[in-house]
Amino acid sequence: MISVRGLTKRFGERSVLRDVSIEVPKGHIVAIMGSSGGGKTTLLKCIAGLIPFEVGTVEVDGVDVQRTTDEARRHLGLVFQSSALFDYLNVMDNVLFGYRRRHPRASLKDQRAVAEAILEQVGLSGTGHLMPSELSGGMRKRVGVARALILEPAVMLYDEPTTGLDPVTTYALDSLIVDVRDRTGATSLIVSHDLTSVFRVADRIAFLHAGELVFDGPPAGFREAEHPAIAELVGKARAEAFDE
Ligand SMILES: Nc1ncnc2c1ncn2[C@@H]1O[C@H](COP(=O)(O)OP(=O)(O)O)[C@@H](O)[C@H]1O
Ligand SMILES: [Mg+2]
Repeated sequence: MISVRGLTKRFGERSVLRDVSIEVPKGHIVAIMGSSGGGKTTLLKCIAGLIPFEVGTVEVDGVDVQRTTDEARRHLGLVFQSSALFDYLNVMDNVLFGYRRRHPRASLKDQRAVAEAILEQVGLSGTGHLMPSELSGGMRKRVGVARALILEPAVMLYDEPTTGLDPVTTYALDSLIVDVRDRTGATSLIVSHDLTSVFRVADRIAFLHAGELVFDGPPAGFREAEHPAIAELVGKARAEAFDE
C-alpha cells in the first residue's frame, strides 16, 4: 500500500506539489494523469524516495520513505519513460543488473534461470543475448519491466510506460501491467497521458493539475468531472475516437 499525506514539494521558491494526499491500496492500479509539468514525475520520485521533500509523509507498506530510504526502496520497482537500459549490456545483463547486487553470491546458472523466467513473464523468452540497439521500443519497455520485476517488488511505479508506442504495442504493454499486478499483487502507480490505456488498466484515476490533486476517483466518474483540464482531455479523446 502507498500512502501519501499532505505532500508539498518545492524546487526553490516554487511549489511543484501542493498538499497532495493519495492512497493506493495493496494490489490496486492507480493512474496519475495531468498536464505536462503538473508534477507527476516529481510525485513518483518522492514516493520512490529519490528526492527529498519538505512537508508531508509518504509511506510504502507502512515504511516512511524519507526515514529509511534504502529499506523502502528495496520494495519498489521503477519503470521510467526512457527505459534507461545500459546500451553496452545485453538484455540478460540488463535484467540481472539489480539482482546481482541484491544476490551477490547467486551462481551464474541460477542467475540465468531467474532472468530467463522473468523474460518469459514479460513475453521476451530467448532474447537474453540481444543488445538494446537490436530491440523495438516495446521490447525495451518490457526489458525495463523485467529488470524491475526480478527484484520482486511490492510496489511498481511506471512513468509514462506507453508514451511513444503505437496502439498495438501500447495494448500489449497495458496487458502486461495488469498481468504483473494479477500475478504478483504489486501495488501499482502509472503515469499516463493515454485515456484509452488508463480506462483499460486503472482501478482509479488521480489527476494532478499545477501541483494539486483535482480529481481522485473511479474511471466512471472521470468522464463527468467538472475541472476544465479534465473536461478538455475527455473532449479531446472523444474527438479522436470519432476521427478514427
Ligand atoms: N530538479 C528540478 N529542479 C527544478 N525544477 C524541477 C525539477 N524537476 C522538475 N521540476 C519542475 O517541476 C515541475 C513539475 O515537473 P514534473 O514532475 O516533471 O512534471 P510532469 O511529470 O507532470 O510533466 C515542472 O515545472 C518542472 O520544470
Ligand atoms: Mg513526467
